[in-house]
Amino acid sequence: MSRRVVVTGSGSGIGRATAERLAAAGDVVVGVDLRDADVEADLGTPEGRAAAVSAIEGRGQVDAVVCCAGVEAKGDVTVRVNYFGVVELLEGLQPLLAASDAPRAVVVASFAAIHPAFDAGIVEACLAGDEAAAVDACAVAVEAEPPRSVYASSKRALVRWVRRTAPTERWAGAGIPLNAVAPGVVATPMTQYRLDDPSRREALLGVVPMPLHGPGEPDHVAALLAWLAGPENVLVTGQVVFVDGGADAVLRGEAGWT
Ligand code: NAI
Repeated sequence: MSRRVVVTGSGSGIGRATAERLAAAGDVVVGVDLRDADVEADLGTPEGRAAAVSAIEGRGQVDAVVCCAGVEAKGDVTVRVNYFGVVELLEGLQPLLAASDAPRAVVVASFAAIHPAFDAGIVEACLAGDEAAAVDACAVAVEAEPPRSVYASSKRALVRWVRRTAPTERWAGAGIPLNAVAPGVVATPMTQYRLDDPSRREALLGVVPMPLHGPGEPDHVAALLAWLAGPENVLVTGQVVFVDGGADAVLRGEAGWT
């Protein structure tokens, strides 16, 4: 029987590539996006997330959830979508996942999760589940000198949520692997304008050095997402898998292993 997989951000980039790959493999994909999707919802608001959960519930069984929807903007929309839009959706869908024979959950974080320019206030507010405080902290972070990155903060918080949540009774105990992938630079509408401009491209690859192949394509990430969301993944959970052409290995080297 085919698996039913929810993919957020299915309209573009990594989400679209993932939806196409899963559908080609025979899965039934329920795409979630702002528009032109099976479920049209704004994951940047509590109402939109709740509406998405009930629309997905109305479609029946869910075997996997792959959260790709994200934005990279300076304002609080970034933390609303990238952190709360992922965590609230997954928490809302956990009961449906738990009813599957082979449930899986995967989120798209980013190489930016290890970027030092994060704001601790945003991260702590996210992990406390306090969206209003996180939004307030964004306003402080962008005005700081030097400014602190809302995007890096949202992804760092997401990675920490995966690390603390995956081994719990509610997830591991219910047989649900929960992982993150952390892409380096991938050619999508989010990054294309920088990749097309030689000086911006150089600056970007200075921050995210990718000695293996350079910037990737959406399907390079989709292939890993599909595996993590599939039944072959039995024991991998709580991991942050870098899909980054070696950027993490360049910048962090052997830290944590010595
Ligand atoms: P994209 O811009 O091509 O696609 C993002 C999708 O998310 C779009 O279809 C958009 O409509 C949807 N979305 C945005 N806000 C939404 C909302 N409020 N509610 C519902 N859907 C919403 O971007 P891309 O590059 O495919 O990004 C996918 C994920 O990968 C994001 O989480 C991004 O942060 C992450 N990522 C991307 C990298 C890159 O180099 N492209 C690198 C590292 C992480």
